[in-house]
Amino acid sequence: MRFNSASVLLAMPILAVADTPDYQAQFQEYLGQAQGYFEKITSAIPSPNKYDPVAAAVAKAGSNRIDVIGLHNWKDTLYEPVTPESTTPEEWWLLITGGNKTCFGHCGKLEAAFNETAGKFAIEPSSPHMALLNCDNQPVLCNAWSAPVGALWIFEMLPEPSPISIFTKRLNLTTVTSDDLIQIQKDGYRAVAKEHDGLFHPFNGPLAQNGLSVPVGYVLWAFGLLPSWAFMIIVSLFSRRMMASRMEGQMHGGPRPAATGQAAPRR
Ligand SMILES: *[C@@H]1O[C@H](CO)[C@@H](O)[C@H](O)[C@H]1NC(C)=O
Ligand SMILES: *[C@@H]1O[C@H](CO)[C@@H](O)[C@H](O)[C@H]1NC(C)=O
Ligand SMILES: *[C@@H]1O[C@H](CO)[C@@H](O)[C@H](O)[C@H]1NC(C)=O
Repeated sequence: MRFNSASVLLAMPILAVADTPDYQAQFQEYLGQAQGYFEKITSAIPSPNKYDPVAAAVAKAGSNRIDVIGLHNWKDTLYEPVTPESTTPEEWWLLITGGNKTCFGHCGKLEAAFNETAGKFAIEPSSPHMALLNCDNQPVLCNAWSAPVGALWIFEMLPEPSPISIFTKRLNLTTVTSDDLIQIQKDGYRAVAKEHDGLFHPFNGPLAQNGLSVPVGYVLWAFGLLPSWAFMIIVSLFSRRMMASRMEGQMHGGPRPAATGQAAPRR
């Protein structure tokens, strides 16, 4: 995630405006328009999301009982074992993994350890549900969550619309074994993992709450394809245009709305 901080900066003003009651209606209107464009654009570009339904069905039915998730099915999959009356969370262990593109080929050992653990959990009652997310195949979802490869995310799923807690644990790609993962369960993951929150939280975060996760996922994915010099050129063109139009406004624009009328304080 090379452009993480940049992306946060890009998203902040939008969200600040979204939280201002006066601008909520206007924001919703812009959001509607943006979503229209967004759908046009994403239907025009070849989908970067790869998903093999046959392999996924085999993994689910196999002895390890692993669900492979993608942009189209992650939510349904995680909610699947949850009943409307559930009061104790259904626990999901999701491994965020990747291949040569996103994990530089270093995730194999971790993935094997996770699969082996899934095999052990599958024959144990009340053990967590297991799922895999491969960021080589699902770059948009990984970007939408700002999810790093090589991490274990533990979801505590309650019926909608309860907030969902997620605990994350980075694993050592060179040393991790199935025993380490079993130990995490024995020790209690809440003791060793970090609670996840913030902008990119897949359920409770402001992006998800405003329906912006997927568009932001596409934008960050597209930025990730650019070499960093191209990114810098875009930023500099963009800021120069903003400067130019602001100066123009000051010179010819006549009376402009006073700065105090602005929706969001500048950051
Ligand atoms: C990943 O890279 C290794 C070494 O370059 C290569 O042997 C392997 O086939 C690649 N795997 C995939 C899935 O492309
Ligand atoms: C782990 O299991 C998944 C799902 O069955 C499979 O696609 C993947 O190749 C396995 N990885 C390793 C390293 O065995
Ligand atoms: C992983 O473990 C090895 C051996 O203990 C250690 O040398 C390495 O620094 C660790 N890597 C990370 C990222 O913690």
